[in-house]
Parts: sequence; structure tokens; C-alpha cells
Amino acid sequence: MNIFVHEKTKTFHLQNDEISYIMTVLPNGHMGQLYFGKKLHDREDFSYLLEGFIRNGESGEYCAEEQEGRHAGYPLDCVCGASMERLRLEYPSCWGGDFRQYALEILQDNGSRLTDFAFSGYELLPGKPRLAGLPATYTEEDGEAQTLVLKLRDETAKLELTLLYTIFAKDGIIARSANIKNTGKRTVYLERALSLCLDLPDMDYEMVQFSGTWTRERHPKVRRLEQGLQGIESIRGSSSHHQNPFLLLRRPDATEMSGEVMGFSLVYSGNFMAQVQVDTYDASRVLLGIHPDGFSWKLSEGENFQTPEAVIVWSDKGQNGMSQAFHRLYQRRLCRGYWRDKARPILLNNWEATYFDFNEEKLLKIARKAKENGVELFVLDDGWFGKRRDDYAGLGDWVPAKELLPEGIAGLSRKIEEMGMMFGLWFEPEMVNPDSDLYRAHPDWVLSVPERKETLYRHQLVLDFSRKDVVDYIFDSMAKIFRESRISYVKWDYNRYFSECFSRALPADQQGEVFHRYILGLYDLYERLTSEFPHILFESCASGGGRFDPGLLYYAPQTWTSDNTDCVGRLQIQYGTSFVYPVSSMGSHVSAVPNHQVRRVASIATRANVAAFGTYGYELDLNKLTGEEQEEMGRYTEFMKKHRELLQFGTFYRLKSPFEGNETAWMVVSEDKKEAIVGYYKVLSEPNKGFDRLKLAGLREDVLYEVSGKGTHYGDELMNLGIITSGDMAFRTGDGYSGRGDFDSVLYFLKAE
Ligand code: GLA
Repeated sequence: MNIFVHEKTKTFHLQNDEISYIMTVLPNGHMGQLYFGKKLHDREDFSYLLEGFIRNGESGEYCAEEQEGRHAGYPLDCVCGASMERLRLEYPSCWGGDFRQYALEILQDNGSRLTDFAFSGYELLPGKPRLAGLPATYTEEDGEAQTLVLKLRDETAKLELTLLYTIFAKDGIIARSANIKNTGKRTVYLERALSLCLDLPDMDYEMVQFSGTWTRERHPKVRRLEQGLQGIESIRGSSSHHQNPFLLLRRPDATEMSGEVMGFSLVYSGNFMAQVQVDTYDASRVLLGIHPDGFSWKLSEGENFQTPEAVIVWSDKGQNGMSQAFHRLYQRRLCRGYWRDKARPILLNNWEATYFDFNEEKLLKIARKAKENGVELFVLDDGWFGKRRDDYAGLGDWVPAKELLPEGIAGLSRKIEEMGMMFGLWFEPEMVNPDSDLYRAHPDWVLSVPERKETLYRHQLVLDFSRKDVVDYIFDSMAKIFRESRISYVKWDYNRYFSECFSRALPADQQGEVFHRYILGLYDLYERLTSEFPHILFESCASGGGRFDPGLLYYAPQTWTSDNTDCVGRLQIQYGTSFVYPVSSMGSHVSAVPNHQVRRVASIATRANVAAFGTYGYELDLNKLTGEEQEEMGRYTEFMKKHRELLQFGTFYRLKSPFEGNETAWMVVSEDKKEAIVGYYKVLSEPNKGFDRLKLAGLREDVLYEVSGKGTHYGDELMNLGIITSGDMAFRTGDGYSGRGDFDSVLYFLKAE
């Protein structure tokens, strides 16, 4: 890894074994993008890559009109005929002749939105600086990454722009962010401040986005880039079920295993936009950052605004290559804390077992059975506090309901620990029911507009987390329970979107800050709680996977992937989620049949084989199963305990997509490639089928592997010829078979001889 700086040509070249990212200072002082892709040799001068001119036919000569700048916008003073709209720019602002979408817009006191940021200096830093108040990837040792800090200045507006570029030593990763500072006396308003702009010279890509809604999150959707705008967004207050803050561009010939792929991921949990604009010359501009709709930020003298971080991963090893780089980075250098590298406890959550209908006796009965079956963590979900006997009341009143839990959470958690399990608890800290003591005491603590209707979703309102007093109050209520009880795990839920994003604590000209200030308040609360209670494992949740984003992984290393616990639905959801997020981050449970979302009846084997590629747990009352079923579940619990390090932290490969046929397959391989587990799933059984083979990946070609129930095979056989899967649909770990028919599956365990 190296950052080459060529002072004479003002060229910056960030390079590691995989990639090169090359920029230069343009004649007008703006930063220009020259190249991003596979590693190139360094050289002093890459200016031949500067394509700002419009060529006249095939001769390559510049046409006279263009030289005079008649058709091209804003010819650069010193490069006759070069046009802003043809140059590839690093952080374009609005107006000024680049007619594409832009990264920055600043409203100044005379009403102008024109800025002109010119290069004023740079700095090289070892490692990576933290971003104040925001989640971001990090380094533990300086040698892991290097950062280039570019300084730009608009002398007229007295504004300073700082662009951060971090290149990591391993994998094709660049992390970027921007900071805008007002060094003058006049107040300005940021109307748009994105995290990333990347101009690419062509449009020969397919764009993949991950879309959905409640119970069907992150389904990949593919389209070929075309001239014009294509993109995704959330203006719901959070990253959302509907779109994930991530875009993928791949060459049309790229596959899971090979070809050029780029991923763009935003480390943020609020409103975002991600888009690609293809211009009339077939050049593509990627933009990613906080959604400008509803956003504005007042910058008075001396104040600065830090954008969230955007992470780009480039790989020529196909989509799996890109995903694996994201997994390594997010698992080890975005997630933090005690649980980061630890295999996750097998939990049982009472939600689908009882919903709101429980008391302590009932919970203890479920917990006892769970313990008997090897469960390590008992989680009490919604309904334990205030008047929360259903979802109409009580949110915000974080006081244990004595009528259900006579000795409170302190007593219940003690009893659970005495059984030999850890105890976990559900919170929805950001919300309030109008029917609650908190709302009655502080009706002004919610996001809503005075004299207007307050829109309810799930009978609740959003607390105004842009206010410090509100965040302080919630911190105190949660910390009190953490201090007086034995809490090892928290499920942090969030069950509605914003509808009236207005804060009573801010003046009119700062209402555009509420969306982002809310997210800063959320991060602040997480930071304070994770610092004071470092041993608590946090799992974020938002009606399932409505906020499955890198921002929250910084605080909570796992996320409840979806409220859909059906194993067939989960194949698609976990498959889509795996494009960016590691297996260790995906909350996954075995639930009851008929399944509560879709009424499907699938075998225990398949329910467990899907949940195995996640944090693994149960969402049912084991007392309701027959002895035989309990025994079978027990075997899976044992299997998970034995192999969860490999499953959660191994190198993950997608092999067969649930979106392309009846079968899904994926696998994990240990770092030393001596062990692997393959999950193979078939939704509908098929009569009299031909022979099926499944090609594996990531193994050592010359190593002999013992494949559970299938003899020994060299890695090259398993990868090039595949394992013959015909007729194999049953769980095999040496303990025999189960399942067959629809929704069937098998796990293959591979061990090097
Ligand atoms: C949300 C969560 C569920 C459960 C309920 C409780 O829907 O996603 O898992 O916790 O809230 O009300």
C-alpha cells in the first residue's frame, strides 16, 4: 500500500496490491478523477487520462468552436476547450458549468449557490482518523491503512473543504468522506453534502440494488446502466426496508466468481441517496450520501460539517470477491467491542412463542426447556414494561411491569442466570406511545409539527432524538435497568418511519437539520451505552431488517435480518444481505411451524440449516415440541456450538441464487481452508430428476477433503466437477437424516484429511 504524491504534476496515486485510485489537480484548481480500478504502475504524469476536450470526428483534432468554448460549458481558463461537463471530477458542486448531478451545494447570504473550491494543500496520515460523532471503519495499527487529506478552499465564500481518502493495505478498499468548514463571518447553509462522487469513463455496467419491504428485505434488482439517472433512496428517516444504502456496479460478464465488480456502501442509518448518472458521452457518475431532500445545515462562523463515510470496494474476483472484502472490513474494522470476534451465543427469543401474552412463570418455563436444549441466552422481547400489554400503550415507560414480573427485570435476569443462561432484553428506545407516562409528561418530545396532526404508525410516535435532553432521559432509563439487572444482550428495536420531521427545539432555519441530528443523537446514545456497558451484545432491529446498515454495525455487531422467519423467505433475504454484510451480523432464528408469516410447514432440518448461516437462535417455545423434535433441535444446537466460528467468521461464498431457480447454495471456508460447510437448499421437490452437481469454491485444489456422507475428494474435483447432490436432501453430520419433500436441504461438512 502506498500513496504516491507527484508534486510537479499535482497527481495523487493511492495504490495497494489490488487497486489504483488516481487524481490530479485540474488547471482551475478543482480535483479531477483520472482512474479507479485494477492496480497500475505508478508514474509521474497521468495527465494523458485527462479527457476534457471534445474531439472533432475521427481525426482527433479539436474542433474550432469547442476551442472557443461555444458549446462546452465553462471552458477552463488555461486549457482551451476543456469542458467542466466532460471532466471527471472528485467532488463537484452545483452551478459552474458541470451540468451533471453534484456532491455539494451551499447557499450563501447573497442567495448564490456557486462555489469554487481550489486545491490548497494536502497531508498524509498513517492509519485512518476517526470521524467525530459518526460511525466509520477504523484501523488498529497504522500499517493497516494510509489516509490522504486533500484541502480545498473557496476564497470568495471563505469556505474550506477537506476530502479524506483512506486506502487499506488489504483488499480493494477506499473509504471516503468530506468536511466543509465555514472560516468566514457570514453564515451559509449546506443544502447538499454527499459523501462520495466517482466519475467513471464508461457506462458498460449493470447496477444492482437491494430492495424490498417488511418481511422481504434486500432482494437484488438488476438493470443495465442507461443514459440519465438511476438510483435508490430513503427519505423515511432511516436506511429502510425498501432500499439498502448500497449500490453495486458490475461488468456484464461478471459473475459470482469472476469479473470486475464495484460496491458502494454508506456508513449511515438515516436518509440516503445512491445514484448513477450516465451522461450523453456515456460516462457514469456515482453519487452517494445523505439525501439532500429535506436536508439543510446552517454553518456559522467557525463551524464545520462532517459527512458520513462511504466505502468503495473494487474486485476483479466477481461478486463474491467484493462481498468477502466487505465482510472482512465490516466484521473486523467496523464492528467493535467485546463481541466483535466472538462466536455468538445461541439464544431463544420469546416473541413468536408468546407475543404479549406472558408472565414470569410462563417465561421461566420456556427458559428452563431452552436451557435443557443447550440454549445459552434467553431474550425477553416486547411487553415487559409500563402498561405495554399490547402495542397501543406503554412505549417510553421503561419500568418493569410488576404485575407480570414481581421482582422486575432484576429478579427475572437473576433467575435466568441461576439457570446457567445469560439474559437479554428488548427495548425500543426511540419511540413513544401517546398512551404513556412519558408522552403525557413531555408531549413536546416527539417529532411533530405544532398545530398539525401527529401521524401514528403502529400506534406510536418518534421521539425527538435531535434533542440532547431526550437522549439523556432515555440513556438514564436504559442505564438504570442495565445497572440493576444482569443484562448480557439487548435487542434494540425501531418500528416506524418518520412522517413529521420537525423539532420544537430548533429555530425555523435549522429544521432541515432534524433528520441528521436525529441520527447523531441515536449514535450518541449507542456510544454512551456501549462504552458504559461494553459486555452487552447489542442486536439492532427495525421491524426486522429496516435498518440493516453499516452505521449501526459500528455499535451493534448483529442485526435482526427480517421479521420473516420462514426458511424459504430467509434464503432470499440472507442471500441478498450477504452481498455486503457478514454472516456474523445476520440474526437468524428457527421458528415454529406453521410459520407465523407465511404458514409454511418446513422441516426442522431446513429451518435450522438456513438459520445456521447467521447468528442462530430459536423463536419458539420448545415445550410445544415432541420429545423427538426437541432431540433433533438439540442436535442442531450442538452442531452450531461446534461449528459457529467457522459459520460466522469463515470466508463466505454464494454458489446458487434463490432468485434464479429452485435451488440455493452457499458455503463457508475456514481461513486455513481445512474445513468448510456447504448449505444446499431446494424449495420444491422434483420427481425423477436428472443428476445434479454443485460446484464448490475457495478450497485447496490439491487437498483431499472428507465430505460428510460422500467419501473423500480433492479440492479440484469439488470445485471443478462438483459434488453430486442428486438424492441428497437430508441433514448429514453422521447423525442420520431428516426431512425430504418440499423445502428440503442438506449441510455438507468438509474436513481436510
Ligand atoms: C418488531 C420486531 C419483532 C418484535 C416486535 C415486538 O416487529 O421486529 O421482532 O420484537 O417488534 O413488538
